[in-house]
Amino acid sequence: MCGIFGYIGRRTAAPIIVKGLKKLEYRGYDSFGIATLGSGIEISKHEGRISENGRSAIRLNGTIGIGHTRWATHGIPNDINAHPHMDCKNRIAIVHNGIIENYADLKRQLIARGHRFLSETDTEVIAHLIEEKYTNNLLTAVRDTVSDLQGSFALLVISPEEQRIVAARNASPLVIGVGDGEFFAASDMTPILEYTERAMFLEDGDIASLSQTKVEIFHGDDIVTRQIELIDWSVEDTKKGGFPHYMLKEIYEQPQAFYNSISGITKETIPRVAIKPSSVVIVACGSSFHAGLIFKYLLEETCGIPVRIEYASEFKYFPPPVNGLVIGITQSGETADTLTALKQAKAHNCSTLAITNVLGSSVSRIADSTLYMRAGPEISVAATKSFVAQLAVLMQLINIYSDNQFNKVLLQGHRAIEDILLKDLSEAIAICKKAHSLFYVGRGAFFPVSLEGALKMKEISYIHAEGYAAGELKHGPFALLSKDTPVIAICMPDDTYGVMISNIKEIKARGAPVIALGVEGDSELTDVVDLFISVPKTHKFVQVLTSLVILQLLAYHTAVALKRDIDKPRNLAKSVTVE
Ligand code: AGP
Ligand code: GLU
Repeated sequence: MCGIFGYIGRRTAAPIIVKGLKKLEYRGYDSFGIATLGSGIEISKHEGRISENGRSAIRLNGTIGIGHTRWATHGIPNDINAHPHMDCKNRIAIVHNGIIENYADLKRQLIARGHRFLSETDTEVIAHLIEEKYTNNLLTAVRDTVSDLQGSFALLVISPEEQRIVAARNASPLVIGVGDGEFFAASDMTPILEYTERAMFLEDGDIASLSQTKVEIFHGDDIVTRQIELIDWSVEDTKKGGFPHYMLKEIYEQPQAFYNSISGITKETIPRVAIKPSSVVIVACGSSFHAGLIFKYLLEETCGIPVRIEYASEFKYFPPPVNGLVIGITQSGETADTLTALKQAKAHNCSTLAITNVLGSSVSRIADSTLYMRAGPEISVAATKSFVAQLAVLMQLINIYSDNQFNKVLLQGHRAIEDILLKDLSEAIAICKKAHSLFYVGRGAFFPVSLEGALKMKEISYIHAEGYAAGELKHGPFALLSKDTPVIAICMPDDTYGVMISNIKEIKARGAPVIALGVEGDSELTDVVDLFISVPKTHKFVQVLTSLVILQLLAYHTAVALKRDIDKPRNLAKSVTVE
């Protein structure tokens, strides 16, 4: 978690770093800090968000600096635990994304050798270790230090004795932006796009030296080259563009994200490992897991290819799959659990495929092959357009496996999403915003749609919301039903329809109000529920998309009505780089 950003060039660094950190804030936002090389190391760090308190940091001097926006793992968010951290002599300042697993041992040893610690973070050990190893070459000192570290890190280090930034990467993302007479180092491309589209992605084990004229990258004792890639995301994609929140903008970008993502994948271009596998194992977290579960229902139903799906965080507790393609689905490409699960799959000689949105992300280095969704940068912590883009990629795979029989259906997708964006949900919002608890139910492919709807609602509105397979509600959760627990039921006219109607009647009989999503003109459903929201009668794939978009909008508007912090919900971060 957390975002790091470094600048070296001719301009004053601090304002550029403040701006960069604001763009990275979605990765973590409990505290922030900046250090520059002005008169010695100048530093400003604070609890809270840089978007609200960044002014003090802008005044720092110098054309070289590093910054951090934090999602605390070790030590509460406060001014002292905020990064950058320094050594005893104030000669070294560092920012760190990740976790140092052996920090407790290292700290004990450092204290025994006389070092004074100010913070409770794991990170601070790195500053003191560099202090011990530093004689006259910062790069060598960092290289000697990282060999003592266990865990994950993307590090930026400065010292007033050297006019450069030293960067190191192991299992946390780090990209270098190559500008004209200036260089940037950041957790991802979003804060760099404004200055350059040219980027180099560091590999695990790389250490880089960024000076005003050049970047040198070392791996072990070797100097290495990392290819400069052109990133085709536009800087406009990283702005709100007149919308009140990134989330709403990203919901409105879904027709384009869906269309671009289905168009980006063809039979001719899918990687060899992905050509009609005999069986599939999916590993993913959160919304990406829900996309995988929808895929399981649709793929098994249409192609008969068996799919096993596991939470990536639980994968290590199951016996390894003996054969089949293992697919890791991850928007960010950096989710630690998903990366670990894919590494385990590889250790068991499975073929692996990554589905991700971020070029150069860690998952693309781990998996044998990668399919990219084309959602563009997603800033809001709640996944919306990346989710729809994942479904686009997965539905296109099903289409390819079925000899393109869903071509027409998929081409309806973006229009259907566009139309549904205009739906009036005011009555449903009025019901949801008063609720303390909500249930979402569906069957078949609409069960994971209900899981995703509930996740969106709890994540941004803070209303307790649970998704259930509709048949499961009577096995316990019925005890919670009352007039104060609205149930949102997704009831489409497929082979689950009849039993869904029965389930809805059972829920109604327990006094819970029911809001139903169904197809237009469904009078039977309309008659049994309290509020009916219609989607057009189309193919099931498209109904999955349209019902999903309704649930996203319902969560969004409910959270707005409750004045929640839509794009940065409490306690969360966009990219979960710790297990
Ligand atoms: C979704 O709204 C969440 N923010 C979260 O569940 C997310 O989908 C999950 O952390 C997985 O992220 P990834 O797709 O980047 O791996
Ligand atoms: N482990 C470090 C800390 O708690 C860094 C966390 C992060 O990646 O934001 O400060």
